[in-house]
Amino acid sequence: MKVVGSLVILYLLAILETLLSLVAGNSSVVVVTHENLQQIIDSNELVLLSFYTDWCRFSQILQPIFEEAAAKVLQKFPENGRVILGKVNCDIEDILADQFDILKYPTIKIIRNGLIGSQEYRGQRSVEAVFQFVEIELSDPIKEFHSIDELKTVDVGFGIVIGYFISNDHVEYDNYRRVASLLRNECRFLVGFGDLTKELRPPGKNALIFRGDPSIPNHKNQYSEYLGNMTSFKELTFWIDKRCVPLVREVTFENAEELSEEGLPFVLLFYNKDDVSPIQEFKNAIQSQLENETRVNFLTAEGKLFKHPLFHLGKSLTDLPVIAIDSFMHMYLFPRFKDIHKPGALKKFIDDLFSGALHFNFHMALEAKENSESIIDTAEDPPIVHESKFKDLKPSKHRYTLVNRTRDEL
Ligand SMILES: *[C@@H]1O[C@H](CO)[C@@H](O)[C@H](O)[C@H]1NC(C)=O
Ligand SMILES: *[C@@H]1O[C@H](CO)[C@@H](O)[C@H](O)[C@H]1NC(C)=O
Ligand SMILES: *[C@@H]1O[C@H](CO)[C@@H](O)[C@H](O)[C@H]1NC(C)=O
Ligand SMILES: *[C@@H]1O[C@H](CO)[C@@H](O)[C@H](O)[C@H]1NC(C)=O
Repeated sequence: MKVVGSLVILYLLAILETLLSLVAGNSSVVVVTHENLQQIIDSNELVLLSFYTDWCRFSQILQPIFEEAAAKVLQKFPENGRVILGKVNCDIEDILADQFDILKYPTIKIIRNGLIGSQEYRGQRSVEAVFQFVEIELSDPIKEFHSIDELKTVDVGFGIVIGYFISNDHVEYDNYRRVASLLRNECRFLVGFGDLTKELRPPGKNALIFRGDPSIPNHKNQYSEYLGNMTSFKELTFWIDKRCVPLVREVTFENAEELSEEGLPFVLLFYNKDDVSPIQEFKNAIQSQLENETRVNFLTAEGKLFKHPLFHLGKSLTDLPVIAIDSFMHMYLFPRFKDIHKPGALKKFIDDLFSGALHFNFHMALEAKENSESIIDTAEDPPIVHESKFKDLKPSKHRYTLVNRTRDEL
């Protein structure tokens, strides 16, 4: 009796232990809910959040990989406040999924220094790749220089932000570091301390300058000095972002998914790589007429690489340069490239997209075509509309379960 009793207790203890480890979960991945989210992102330098559902096949595949990566990360960075890998069950936490604008499972969102952005992890779903990503993210985004000569030999291909600081134990330097970690892929960040940079900054103050990418012809004109409040993280972020993230970017197959997920229609210049002068014309027109336009993404696309959408627009390589809008529903052709120099023409084209005029004209044209008596003067440039091609570059069904919330039709 006594023996049986102890056995039962042992047995119960074993069950309890299993249950506890399941409930408390010595899992390295933290379960994130609407209740603990804020606390977790506020108290960690880096948070990777996997938004998943139990029924999604790709989520199921990711789960043990993410778990193992988290264990490895925790082993390397055990200090409190550095990094957390968490998971959000979207069937339960639908409000969080909405808040983070989750359109596919699994989505791994990246949160740095408490700032929720649109960025997500798109690398390989392997333990090693996730681990390496975290390692790079947690490395210092700012490179210290020890002689002024080092400033002459910096990477081309990037704008450079250079800080002349008194010391590193100051809130202004913390701010600089935080902004640098947000924009580490867009610019290079350097710093020099103390006597080395004494001549380069006002007495008793820190200074920050921006130098354009040396490989860009007019990079000297881009030189500027930060005159704002360095204690203000927001102001500093805005200034550096405006310099490091160009108004017009190049779209490639590698970044198309990411660009499309910013959710803004594309205004595209298709160019011929043997004649890149239209790129500068396009950039100048946008810079002078549309520098404050935030409803679209301005992109340049190499015609040969994107010949598929180009042909779809009824154009070929000999027609380049060609400008078009892709709203992810439709593509609209800008009638004549040279009109970008007419003040307001490109702006009107974009305004017409948002007012629905482009789309309306499209239906009018269709009707006109159907009724043999044309109501639209075909001598005028007919509005040319095609189905979106860039929507094909959005996240793949072979990698994600897509949540099909539809966008507004544009
Ligand atoms: C949980 O912890 C135990 C003992 O600490 C360990 O043997 C086991 O591998 C851990 N399980 C997981 C999933 O980490
Ligand atoms: C600079 O920004 C900080 C933080 O936002 C603020 O507290 C401070 O008053 C600002 N200083 C000036 C001179 O505006
Ligand atoms: C953009 O906004 C700034 C600040 O409001 C203004 O000075 C500038 O003229 C604007 N640019 C254009 C092209 O409208
Ligand atoms: C959403 O996706 C599901 C599964 O792929 C499909 O059956 C359904 O028709 C889609 N709904 C819409 C509105 O596209």
